[in-house]
Amino acid sequence: MASTTTTSQFFLVVSIISLVACSSANGQLSTNFYARNCSSLQNIVHDVMNQTVTKEPRMAASILRLFFHDCFGCDGSILLDDTGSFTGEKNAGPNMNSARGFEVIDAIKTRVEAACRNTLGGQSWQVPLGRRDSRTANFNRANSDLPSPSSNLATLINMFAAKGLTAQDMTVLSGGHAIGFSRCVFFRNRIHSETNIDPAFAAERKANCPNSGGSNNLGPFDDTPNRFDNNYYQNLVKRRGLLHSDQVLFNNGSQDATVRNYSTNAAAFLKDFGAAMVKMGNIGPLTGTNGEIRRSCRVINR
Ligand code: HEM
Ligand SMILES: *[C@@H]1O[C@H](CO)[C@@H](O)[C@H](O)[C@H]1NC(C)=O
Ligand SMILES: *[C@@H]1O[C@H](CO)[C@@H](O)[C@H](O)[C@H]1NC(C)=O
Ligand SMILES: *[C@@H]1O[C@H](CO)[C@@H](O)[C@H](O)[C@H]1NC(C)=O
Ligand SMILES: *[C@@H]1O[C@H](CO)[C@@H](O)[C@H](O)[C@H]1NC(C)=O
Repeated sequence: MASTTTTSQFFLVVSIISLVACSSANGQLSTNFYARNCSSLQNIVHDVMNQTVTKEPRMAASILRLFFHDCFGCDGSILLDDTGSFTGEKNAGPNMNSARGFEVIDAIKTRVEAACRNTLGGQSWQVPLGRRDSRTANFNRANSDLPSPSSNLATLINMFAAKGLTAQDMTVLSGGHAIGFSRCVFFRNRIHSETNIDPAFAAERKANCPNSGGSNNLGPFDDTPNRFDNNYYQNLVKRRGLLHSDQVLFNNGSQDATVRNYSTNAAAFLKDFGAAMVKMGNIGPLTGTNGEIRRSCRVINR
């Protein structure tokens, strides 16, 4: 898989399996959870992601981010639609008009259900599979527990620590911004007002993100937004981080050494990123007889 895909697609495949999961069985997570009951799982996910990303490279980034936003919880709760009597997480501040890719999850889920009815589930990297889906969602937690683009370094470290993740985990997981885009509204203040920024970079971004207006215009997180490489860290070292929360990782603080390391050592970054994704994916997943295996990712079973 890795040999024929860009690294970003590889990571996607891995993370999407968890979201799609909407499912499972007993006990612990394991990488071969579906080996017997749904051996085509990885192929289906890979195939749909291949078609999707061929059409729209950014969708790789969008799916990766969905995993993060679900995982400060890690139970598929982000996939549930709001109804008259149910408040999900899709309209919580960090997700509203921002989280995207739900149709891709639906497309994968439909095909997996057809191939392996009701066995879906899981999570993947050497992905520990076997997660079950929540019957609830937590709007307030989605608002309070996810960091904001204006967070300073101490806040980022504390918010990840609250989930059992170290400062180093936080810095390597921020490398998720190796792919994808942010809307102007989240980096306007940085490019117009901050001083720890390469002036040429600020000028480039201002062209598409003026002082007022254009709030939904997109800016790439790094110079190679469709490749999952270590360019994100190289950019931070050059003071070309897009969000305030990106640049604080390299601003004469405790994470400078790690950023420098990853900026010159892509292999170290990729290896540490995979391990940290597994760790993030292990934040309180439902297993055994907890939760359920949803038939549609968007609604709890009756
Ligand atoms: C460290 C704290 C983090 C903050 C403050 C943060 C904030 C943001 C913001 C504001 C956006 C743009 C959203 C928009 O324009 O609507 C974004 C996009 C993104 N984030 Fe993060 N993020 C963080 C960590 C992470 C982590 C841990 C991952 C995954 C491992 C991740 C993956 C992504 C991706 C891939 C995108 C681009 C999505 C797309 O293009 O559709 N982020 N993030
Ligand atoms: C996607 O599928 C096409 C056609 O089967 C194949 O040629 C290509 O290598 C695949 N791309 C990835 C990234 O797997
Ligand atoms: C696989 O199918 C068997 C027989 O239907 C079932 O007992 C078992 O729980 C399933 N395993 C998973 C992982 O869904
Ligand atoms: C970091 O420290 C160096 C050396 O003291 C200084 O030249 C530089 O301006 C500082 N950078 C920031 C962003 O504070
Ligand atoms: C760079 O990161 C790798 C992987 O985490 C680690 O083994 C190595 O010691 C780090 N190097 C430095 C100079 O921090």
